Amino acid sequence: MFKYGEGGVAGWSTLCGAVNGAAAAICLVAGDAWEDLVNELMAWYENNPFPSDTSNQYAREKAFLVKEMKSDKTLPQSVAKSTLCHVSVTEWCKKSGYKSFSKERSERCGRLTGDVAAFTVDMLNRHFDKAFTPVAKISNEVQSCRSCHDKGGTIENTRGKMNCMPCHDDPHKKPKS
Ligand code: HEC
Ligand code: HEC
Repeated sequence: MFKYGEGGVAGWSTLCGAVNGAAAAICLVAGDAWEDLVNELMAWYENNPFPSDTSNQYAREKAFLVKEMKSDKTLPQSVAKSTLCHVSVTEWCKKSGYKSFSKERSERCGRLTGDVAAFTVDMLNRHFDKAFTPVAKISNEVQSCRSCHDKGGTIENTRGKMNCMPCHDDPHKKPKS
């Protein structure tokens, strides 16, 4: 069923497929807690450097349970500040110097998927042990944008908890003179 998630939904580079799949798995088992857990996953993804040190280490030690690795090198890390496949991949290409259709980029997304799955399983375990406390918080900057542009704001012409800055910077900043 989740084939469609590949490449940010059939190659459209929208929501990262790793997050899409993990969110579905959460909804399958977590009942009414799904929203807190998916929210936590989204916020963590925006700000986490991928691939993690752990998955880089697994790759070097060939500890992943796959027949063939696309690369067993330590891969550079980047923080996407976005849950979009496009931003995530391209920030990583900028940081690493690899092309978006290189085998290293493909391997990077594989490791990232492992990182997302591990985070999700750990979070679900904590949830079922009644030991999960959400830590995700919308940054003050984004909160300030939302105070005018989101629900109940003076303009109320957008919605969403995503980080606005990668696309808009702050359009209200006075231009430098
Ligand atoms: C104090 C209220 C307020 C805050 C805070 C605020 N905005 Fe706005 N924003 C406005 C108003 C008013 C307009 C003009 C709306 C119009 O003319 O339709 C606007 C317009 C915009 C536009 C379109 C204008 C353009 O041409 O560039 C964008 C994009 C935007 N805001 C993004 C943001 C972002 C991102 C933030 C947070 C960094 C933010 N806003 C914070 C009130 C606010
Ligand atoms: C992935 C990129 C992206 C992100 C992240 C993003 N936006 Fe936008 N936003 C756009 C695009 C594209 C448009 C349409 C631009 C246009 O009309 O010129 C837009 C339009 C807007 C407009 C209307 C601009 C206008 O012309 O009146 C506002 C206001 C706005 N965004 C606010 C926000 C706020 C607030 C956030 C964060 C909560 C945010 N955006 C996050 C891409 C983004």
